[in-house]
Amino acid sequence: MYYSDELIEEVRTKNDIVDVISGYVRLQKKGSNHFGLCPFHNEKSPSFSVSGPKQMYYCFGCGAGGNVITFLMEYENLSFQEALKSLADRAGVALPRADESQEQKRAQSRRARLLEINKEAAKYFYYQLRAKQGSVGYAYLKGRELSDETMRQFGLGYANKYSDDLIRYLKSRGYPEDQLRDAGLCNVDEKHGMYDKFWNRVMFPIQDINHRVIGFGGRVMGDGKPKYLNSPETEIFDKSRNLYGLNFAWTSRKGNIILCEGYMDVIAMHQAGFTQAVASLGTAFTSGQASLLKRYAQEVLLSYDSDGAGTNAALRAIGILKEAGLTGKVINLEPYKDPDEFIKNLGAEEFQKRIDEAENSFFFEIRQLQREFDIRDPEGKTRFHRAIAKKLCEFTEEVERENYIEAIAEKYHIGFDSLRKLVAGYAMQTGLARPVERPKSGVQKRATAQDHVRRTQKLLLTWLVEYPQLYQKIRQYISPGDFTEELYVKVAEKLFSDLEAGSLNPASLISMFEDEEEQREVASLFHEKLAHLENEQAQNRALQDIVYSVKRNSYERDCAQMSSDAAALQRVIAGKKQLEELSKTHISWK
Ligand code: UTP
Ligand code: MN
Repeated sequence: MYYSDELIEEVRTKNDIVDVISGYVRLQKKGSNHFGLCPFHNEKSPSFSVSGPKQMYYCFGCGAGGNVITFLMEYENLSFQEALKSLADRAGVALPRADESQEQKRAQSRRARLLEINKEAAKYFYYQLRAKQGSVGYAYLKGRELSDETMRQFGLGYANKYSDDLIRYLKSRGYPEDQLRDAGLCNVDEKHGMYDKFWNRVMFPIQDINHRVIGFGGRVMGDGKPKYLNSPETEIFDKSRNLYGLNFAWTSRKGNIILCEGYMDVIAMHQAGFTQAVASLGTAFTSGQASLLKRYAQEVLLSYDSDGAGTNAALRAIGILKEAGLTGKVINLEPYKDPDEFIKNLGAEEFQKRIDEAENSFFFEIRQLQREFDIRDPEGKTRFHRAIAKKLCEFTEEVERENYIEAIAEKYHIGFDSLRKLVAGYAMQTGLARPVERPKSGVQKRATAQDHVRRTQKLLLTWLVEYPQLYQKIRQYISPGDFTEELYVKVAEKLFSDLEAGSLNPASLISMFEDEEEQREVASLFHEKLAHLENEQAQNRALQDIVYSVKRNSYERDCAQMSSDAAALQRVIAGKKQLEELSKTHISWK
């Protein structure tokens, strides 16, 4: 059921964001904003701000942000439609077609029920581990050198050795059979009827980012098979969009995320102080997980098993990270199999060294590539060099490609010029790799360069919202098409036309986007931190710089597209003129 933009706006404007959020979070007024402790991550001092004038919220700690609808979605785990319904009820706005929202209501209460059952099961397993009957599980985990504190933090538990223990418990608590089945906690077959999915295993509850239990992994306490059993995907458990340990890792602020394969690896790393560790959930790393990680760090350190399977998984993960625009590095765990064993044997300090020495993912890929060739044989060596050249064509940006050619030439004792020629030869044959198609961004640059570009564009948007009078000063130079990310372009289009009409309304911008990820990003656009610039001169210089670099980025993009896009040529010519003009004029705030 899709509601019209007008109706969505009506509901949104009739629910004051400060009023609504005050019902959930204690807020204190400071200036035109209200502050409180962020409900989306653990914190001791308030970095969660709610703006009455903007009708938006934003957390400077974790980046959660949006308008009143987004807030309800995130806080209550509702879909957009459900959040809208609830706010419409609150403000007494009638929404059409009540029967459909009945169905949504049912889906929502079903999800809430499943979360409740999982939580109940987690509590039960937790209790069992600490009771007499759980001593075997407890001894097993102790044997793996986990402290009581670690077991508590991760909510580890134990499933008894009877095959209907949990079912009986949950039924006694009033949960019907079909819900236990929907939660993935039991199996049914003709011969045995209904029985527990997990028994006689130590249990690892899997939590979403808000610490809600969405599934389980269970390990045998020995060599039995399968080693791990995992909950199936359910209405609340989407394996490709969650990561084990992320509920703790996302606030670790280490500047990177360590990605590994196993539950035990994550736990061992956290226990040793590497609180930025996460693992995919018994499945291969996905692009959904990559974009999740991108919210929290730019650099991902792969800490996969050092065996063949682990190496292949790492190679695949590198590709996915690259596509998401993340920097990948690989941690060498030799001579141990996985991070858990490494830390157990060599300790945290040595592991930190391995982190510091983590290998550039391209070098790692080339090193793996080399194994396919016999480089003692000139024939094999030549083929290896060709393969390297081909791979170097993946870098579309010239500076980056040249840097890599130089580094690889030196590392593998190949003449720089001959490697370069080889690369050029391949590039002629096949063309340089097209930038990977990424739905949410237009340009593909080196991560740092790209971040800078985004930041300047973000700042300009923020300033426009904060100081609408600025629009008059910049409109002759900047148009929405100058923004290089698709999302920014859309936002700028709406924002510019609002400003043109003199009716700025940032919170309504957010509802333009269906995708939560995008809503969050748009909210963050308006909360890019404003630097404290001491005097007017510095402020003007900053403004001039930002406008100039937004224009220049757009100009450079147009230059790059000139050969394939006729309209770009026109833009380049116009852009050049404006840039010259910009470098001569002075834009000032006042
Ligand atoms: P590993 O086999 O590498 O196990 O599986 P591990 O993490 O080192 O486990 P320990 O140290 O022996 O306890 C890595 C991950 O793959 C998934 C699990 O998520 C596991 O953590 N897996 C593995 C399964 O889902 N099922 C299995 O049977 C085995
Ligand atoms: Mn292991």
